[in-house]
Amino acid sequence: MKIHHLAKSPSVLNNYLAQLRDKELQQDSMRFRRNLERIGEIISYEISKELHHKEEVVHTPLGRKSTVTLQDRIVICSVLRAGLPLHQGILNYFDWVENSFISAYRYHTSDTEFEIIVEYLASPDLDNKVLILADPMLASGHSLVATFEALSRVGLPREIHLVTAIASQEGVEYISKHFPRGTRLWVGDIDEELNDYSYIVPGLGDAGDLAFGRKLQK
Ligand code: URA
Repeated sequence: MKIHHLAKSPSVLNNYLAQLRDKELQQDSMRFRRNLERIGEIISYEISKELHHKEEVVHTPLGRKSTVTLQDRIVICSVLRAGLPLHQGILNYFDWVENSFISAYRYHTSDTEFEIIVEYLASPDLDNKVLILADPMLASGHSLVATFEALSRVGLPREIHLVTAIASQEGVEYISKHFPRGTRLWVGDIDEELNDYSYIVPGLGDAGDLAFGRKLQK
């Protein structure tokens, strides 16, 4: 798996990550969502450089201009609900593409153990398309792998790009073993630890709750 660890190069992306992590600033849920969206936008621009392009002639009011535009058939898929702001950011840049939504949540069997429940999938056919799979927090990696297994029922993508704001080192290693070779991971930053509840440390807390408010625990 090719890993693009974006925080390694200084850029404005680090400002947005810092604001997401800051325990005061992250209480502003509109800013929190917008920062995830901005990260989705920046990563989309980076991904676009690696996609396939075709030559095209554009007719302007004054003449003709040859240019290159994207030719891949792209599907953006995000994991509900925390993936929605990241999804919106990616869709802002790839505005003509197809979209897919999947629900994956942790069902706790004890304080520290859980299963991933995938219940809802709304997706176009993925055969031979470029799949951009968005989940802001790559913690243990189990929900992303369960998501991909569910998506496999609707086709085999030609290329897979995983987009995440913050990952744990353990999660990166887990998905490297479970996703097809050639998958690319675009990650804002990678943190060292997971705690006993499989939350990323230092991470930022619960991305879904910060973006959309607290939910009842199952
Ligand atoms: N989901 C989150 O929102 N945060 C984590 O740290 C792990 C999973």
